[in-house]
Formats: sequence, structure tokens, C-alpha cells
Amino acid sequence: MAVNIIRIQDIAGYDAQQVTIQGWLQLKTGKGKLQFLRVRDGTGVIQAVVFRGNVTPEAFEAAKRLPLESSLVVTGTVRTDPRAPGIPGGYELDVNELEVIQEAAEYPIGPKEHGTEFLMDNRHLWLRSNRQWAILRVRATIIKAMRDWLDDHGFVLVDTPVLTPNAAENTTSLFETDYHGVPAYLTQSGQLYNEANIFAMGKVYCFGPTFRAEKSKTRRHLQEFWMVEPEIAFCKLEELLEIEEQFVSYIVQTTLKERANELTALERDTAALQRVTPPFPRLSYDDAVKMINEAAARGVTVPPNDEPLVAITWGDDFGAPHETFIASQFGKPVFVHHYPSEAKAFYMEPEPGRPEVCRSADLLAPEGYGEIIGGSERMSDPELLAAAIQKHKLPEAAYNWYLDLRRYGSVPHSGFGLGIERTVAWICGLEHIRETIAFPRMLGRLYP
Ligand code: 4AD
Ligand code: MG
Repeated sequence: MAVNIIRIQDIAGYDAQQVTIQGWLQLKTGKGKLQFLRVRDGTGVIQAVVFRGNVTPEAFEAAKRLPLESSLVVTGTVRTDPRAPGIPGGYELDVNELEVIQEAAEYPIGPKEHGTEFLMDNRHLWLRSNRQWAILRVRATIIKAMRDWLDDHGFVLVDTPVLTPNAAENTTSLFETDYHGVPAYLTQSGQLYNEANIFAMGKVYCFGPTFRAEKSKTRRHLQEFWMVEPEIAFCKLEELLEIEEQFVSYIVQTTLKERANELTALERDTAALQRVTPPFPRLSYDDAVKMINEAAARGVTVPPNDEPLVAITWGDDFGAPHETFIASQFGKPVFVHHYPSEAKAFYMEPEPGRPEVCRSADLLAPEGYGEIIGGSERMSDPELLAAAIQKHKLPEAAYNWYLDLRRYGSVPHSGFGLGIERTVAWICGLEHIRETIAFPRMLGRLYP
């Protein structure tokens, strides 16, 4: 008889049939003639029941002896049982054949609690846990949803370089490397190149790793993170925000639909995510400062540590507690727009008649996840831009090509960057950004 080699995620179609599953032993319990093997295959987890009477004596001995994380192939009959554990759960395998591929060495990660540093040192193994598995599956779906949306809305993917002569965001967080005798930097953002590409394509996006030598350890910062950056010709700030709210809502709703099992495994309360639909509230920086200062005067405290909210002076950038507080005032992601020009990057278009603020907007996620998008209308006037480059003391020669974009057919244009890891943390409901990427690069950690 031909055997069906199946993946656990497809098990629903195989009730009462004979199937083969290839995977790893995740957990084992047993008593007497029965061994319960929790088998993981990358798409899900199933309980394989090994009864002594149903397999060869050698196979039963192997089942009893097998260390966790051994690789194996099990064949048996699928049985529906609503109480059966696993992912998706509700199915068991009555095993009649068991083949051991490799008997694993003693596995360092057990069901007991481990410290974060230990788990990070063993990140290459930790990835096998249900929780990390679920997060990475959600991440893949978020990335697919975001690319699908852009591809379906007329954006062309144009890849931007990783090695650059320019600082896109600021000069304090650059990773410098040697480019055959001249300094080069790992990209902080593909934006400046996107701005060249729109003159060829109209609407573009880039998606790739970006690098920031952040000197602080926080729950929200990585040294290497992935960013999707759309850029649009003939687009002003108001239109940009409409695109962003459609885009983010699509990502959230698609993930809710396609990754329900994973979000359940993560114990994510999805009620707040269901509400993520357009439009999102818009709040000016001026009003945000007033809200913060009124609340600070009332003695409001902010999670996760219930610290008192600290008042801020107009012109200062928000700290994480300020963002958490503002977002908590709305049931949805909220745009904060028209930040002080001094607090933002050199390329942002000043508001006509009020140059102390710029046509920028950050999108703050609810539930304390902070800024997930930074975006703006770009300066389109060549002289203003040249002055901004000078004012920020950027090396003018490296920006000559960028100024060309304002010399040959300059147009109003806008774009934004969405950080994948912060978005994953928000959608999965994670406390720390380190779990949002397979191998996080953080201050003080390059291994594994
Ligand atoms: O606000 P940022 O710095 O904006 C830019 O880089 C623009 N050039 C994007 C553009 O307009 N094309 O970063 C954008 C987003 C942030 O909102 C955040 O989600 C994420 O990138 N981000 C980080 N994520 C993890 N670790 C870090 N160190 C991050 N820095 C920014
Ligand atoms: Mg920002």
C-alpha cells in the first residue's frame, strides 16, 4: 500500500486513514504499554500514540528510550479526538510503524523555566519551541501580506543597496565599514534611493535589512531590523496617511484570518486587533504635547512599570512612556503628525507658513508598542534641501546625486517605513522585540 507522507497542518483531510509524518520528538510521556510521543513537523504538533501491541518490540523499545528532539518518522492511523493536544489539536495518530532517524544527544532546553540569557545563547535551538515557531509563522504572514498589498496597489519592488556613502537618518547610529579604502555605511534606510526610483516608476517600495548602531538596550530596538519602505510620487502627507491606514489594516486583518492557530498558541487577545480598520485617528504633535502635559499634571502613570508620566517641553521628541500614553487614549493605531522640524530628519518638508513643524507623521501602535511607522512628505525644493543638508552638517558631496532629484523634474512626494519587528511584537503581543526575528542582533549580542 502506498503511504501518504503528510504535513500536520493538512491532517484534517485524513481522518481514519493511514499516514506518515516526519518530524522531531517534542515531548514524551508514557506508562506501561503506552507511549505518547508529541511529534513536531514544522507545520504543527500531533500526539502519536504507541501501543506495545501495535508495533514491533524494537520499535516499542525505541519509543520508550528516545530522547527529546530525536528525529523520527511515524506511520499510523489518524483518529479524531476533540481532547487531543497539539497544533491544531483534535487529532491523534495510532502508530504502527516508527523509524528513528537520529537519536538526539541530551537536549539542553527542558520544560522548566530558563533564563533569558540562556535561551538567547541557545537561540538556534529555542526556535523549535511552539511559541517561537508561532511568532516566526506570524512574521512570515505579515511580510507576505504587506508585499501582496503593495504589489496589488501598483507599487514596484526596487531593491536598494546595503552599502552606502550616505547617512539616511542620523549620523550617530551609523555602522561604518571599509569599502576598499573609503568609508561606507550599512544602510539605515532605503528611502533616499527610493526617492530616485519613483522618478522612473512612480510608486516603489524596498524591503530589506537596515542597520542602526543604537547605543541603548530597550524592548523596542535592534541593531539590525527589517523595514518595508514605500515611496510615492505626486503624493502629499494627507494622502500618505490614507495609504498607511489601509496598508496596516490589511496586514492585521490578513494575519488574524491566516494565523489564528498561532495567535491562539501565543495566547494573544485578538479583540483589540479586530478593531484595526480605517480610518485611524490623527493627532497633531501640538495637541499630543497638551494631552501629555495635562495627564502628567494629573499624576497619570504608564505601564509596564507604572512610572509617573513626565511632562515635556514643546520641541522635544517623545519617549516610550509618552508614546504609550498617547496610544492608550485611542482604541486603534494613532497618527501623530507635524512634529517639530528640529526633532526630525533633514529631508522632511516644512509646513508652509510654519516651518518650525514638518509634514511628518509617526504611527503609534496601541497597547504600548510605540512607533511602528515613521513617514513624511519630502522636501522637494532644491535650495531648501541644499540648505538642510548644510545645516545638518552632512557631507555635501555624498548627497549630490540626491539633490539632482530636485533638479530634474522635482515633484511633491511622500513615503514611509514600517519596522517589521515592532509590528510583529504588536500583533503577537510580545513583551520584547528579541523574539520577533530568528537571530536578533542586539547591543552586546552577536552570537549565535
Ligand atoms: O522612523 P524611522 O527612523 O524612519 C526611517 O528610517 C525613514 N527613512 C523611513 C521612510 O520614510 N522611508 O524608522 C522607521 C521604522 C520605525 O517606525 C520603527 O518601526 C523601525 O523603523 N525602527 C526600528 N525597529 C527596530 N529597531 C530599531 N533600532 C529601529 N529603528 C527604527
Ligand atoms: Mg522614527
